[in-house]
Amino acid sequence: MEPVKVGLLGLGTVGGGTVNVLTRNAAEITRRAGRGIEITHAAARDLKKARICKTGNIKLTTDPQQVVDDPEVQIIVELIGGETLAKEMVMRAIAKGKHVVTANKALIANYGNEIFAAAQARGVMVAFEAAVAGGIPIIKAVREGLAGNNIEWLAGIINGTGNFILTEMRDKGSNFADVLVEAQRLGYAEADPTFDVEGIDAAHKLSILAAIAFGIPLQFKKVYTEGITKITREDVNYAEQLGYRIKHLGIAKRTPNGIEMRVHPTLIPERRLIANVDGVMNAVLVKGDAVGPTMYYGAGAGAEATASAVVADIIDVVRMLTADPENRVPHLAFQADALSNVPILPMEEVITCYYLKMQAADKPGVLADITRILGERNISIEAMIQKEPAESFSNEERTATIIMLTHKVIEGSMNQAIREIEALDAIKGPVTRIRMEHLSR
Ligand code: HSE
Repeated sequence: MEPVKVGLLGLGTVGGGTVNVLTRNAAEITRRAGRGIEITHAAARDLKKARICKTGNIKLTTDPQQVVDDPEVQIIVELIGGETLAKEMVMRAIAKGKHVVTANKALIANYGNEIFAAAQARGVMVAFEAAVAGGIPIIKAVREGLAGNNIEWLAGIINGTGNFILTEMRDKGSNFADVLVEAQRLGYAEADPTFDVEGIDAAHKLSILAAIAFGIPLQFKKVYTEGITKITREDVNYAEQLGYRIKHLGIAKRTPNGIEMRVHPTLIPERRLIANVDGVMNAVLVKGDAVGPTMYYGAGAGAEATASAVVADIIDVVRMLTADPENRVPHLAFQADALSNVPILPMEEVITCYYLKMQAADKPGVLADITRILGERNISIEAMIQKEPAESFSNEERTATIIMLTHKVIEGSMNQAIREIEALDAIKGPVTRIRMEHLSR
């Protein structure tokens, strides 16, 4: 049988990795797919740029539309990133009856509902495994492997750059900016690295995971998103003294009142496997009612790790080329007409535990005031450390650092308690609050 011809948009880190993996593993891939797979046409912004791959017989152009419009090409692999041109090309490919493979999480998170509707109407597939957690086949695991379960929650380290930064800060005491530069050099970071450190990239991925876990439409704008830029080495150390690690987690949870979708720094017990996921590695914990907790671990970014997911998607598409569209796995795991409109819970209504850090004047009654405020809101304290003030300060200036871990409370009550604590004369500066999850049940 003739090889399937693939058009590639983008020859950067992941595009180059995809060419390399498809070339190197061509024989094994053909045995798996049942026919050869060839990239015959590719678009790149700058044709003179040095690449990590050999482009050999691939026809090259700077115009992605030429690739999409090439009548020989049956599958378009979109690896240009961004939202405008990528969306235009993906919609054009669908309109022309071509299947699409993409690693573009921003595109799927923002426009997936529209893209999947168009693909369904045209009877083509849009595969996006590489959009979440790089090389980890988490979409396949949740959409197919766990299809018998009622999924209760999932929690993941889904941004490699952020995890790399937190790990280097903890292990080497490195400074935030230097580690970020290193992540950019290694090709992990987004074109705009604020997407990594402010949690936007993780929120894109979380909205995709939540959609396929709970059978809801993509709702990226409803993800509560907080980055890691305010995490200090001090917080990392205090968390460690209390038996916790700080990780930047994406959490999606089904509750009786709605679905939680949130990305924020989180204390997790250091004995949890996921607390020990370091560097650029990603991991996703998924709790199903039948299977219990399951965990998926691997490289979340990088040329060939991401290409691994892209190529697996291409193989999946090739295997399903002749299947009736209605017999394919639905894009969002649930049949398109069976998606649920269950509400997304506002952050004020989320229930979780907290790490609090504050600077208090070293005088009698301060701790009593703080515990009274917490007690009035039914906030129970699980652990506490008070650090002696430095000797060098005068009596007026002497403040003690107080760190508290609380039991579960609704976020709205915690917000009120923090406002009242900050209003106390004896409290200097803002209260640091980091959410805490035990991830056990
Ligand atoms: N910037 C992303 C990360 C790349 O660091 O995880 C993979 O999506």
